[in-house]
Amino acid sequence: MAITSLLSAVSRRLEGKVALITGGASGLGKRTAEVFAHHGAKLVIADIQDELGHSVRQAIAGDGQNDVTYVHCDVTDESQVKAAVEKAVKAYGKLDIMFNNAGIVNDNKARIIDNDKADFERVLRVNVVGVFLGIKHAAQAMIPARGGSIISTASVSSCVGGAGSHAYTCSKHAVLGLTRNAAVELGQFGIRVNCVSPYGVATPLATDFVGLSEGETEKMFGSLANLKGVTLKAEDIANAALFLASEEGRYVSGHNLLVDGGFTIVNPSFGMFQYPDDHHDQA
Ligand SMILES: NC(=O)c1ccc[n+]([C@@H]2O[C@H](COP(=O)([O-])OP(=O)(O)OC[C@H]3O[C@@H](n4cnc5c(N)ncnc54)[C@H](O)[C@@H]3O)[C@@H](O)[C@H]2O)c1
Repeated sequence: MAITSLLSAVSRRLEGKVALITGGASGLGKRTAEVFAHHGAKLVIADIQDELGHSVRQAIAGDGQNDVTYVHCDVTDESQVKAAVEKAVKAYGKLDIMFNNAGIVNDNKARIIDNDKADFERVLRVNVVGVFLGIKHAAQAMIPARGGSIISTASVSSCVGGAGSHAYTCSKHAVLGLTRNAAVELGQFGIRVNCVSPYGVATPLATDFVGLSEGETEKMFGSLANLKGVTLKAEDIANAALFLASEEGRYVSGHNLLVDGGFTIVNPSFGMFQYPDDHHDQA
């Protein structure tokens, strides 16, 4: 391989691939769209925030350096999800990568007896039904092609309790279950299905939820994190999705890629490894 094409393969890990990203107008989806485009993917950004979505599309498209389309798509509406997938196939000829990333949170009410059914169902509609529809219609496009990578955004709440509301935790556990089941079914067609599970990132969703500014939200997440000295950024989630979407992840399927600095593997109640304050500097 000539050195230039080798460099290009390393630096443009999604060259020639077509990706659809739901919730691509903001936060993690937006950053992933930027990273995917940087790596050569043709993109369809799908969201319900149309103005924002169009401006993200424009910024990524630049002066025609990247192929990017924006489509209004409410992930709870099957006809809109179907149309978004069809748009990707029509515009760019195929669908290689589906990133089911759109999601919402609801207010955390401390007592389940104060939680109402409609609010619970609203979260499940976006976070679970939306992901189900995304996987379904991506599979429709990918099965004939005998390949593809479907990624969904779950959360640390996919595997621990007490990090989100009842509805949110339930919804993210369901995303993991759906990921695993779809990976089992779609493996026979060479389609990989995975999810990415972030710890807290100070996106609009997170700052709204905790009711703090971006900086204060980062600080709060930092103080509760297991891994210190590093702040989790949207780019870290985008890079995890990039790995799952690219050739580097070609044998990874049914996996929950936790990007949480070890948050979910520790039970801090024993406080096993607490250094005395003055030993921190000497270590
Ligand atoms: N930020 C975090 O700390 C964090 C942690 C773990 C998981 N997540 C998950 O990451 C994903 C992205 O969230 P974010 O933090 O980037 O939030 P965000 O609010 O910045 O972005 C979410 C996007 O999804 C869109 N969206 C909401 N409902 C939709 C619908 N019905 N149809 C289409 N689009 C819809 C919103 O318009 C928004 O653009 C979500 O699934 C969220 O649960 C976030």
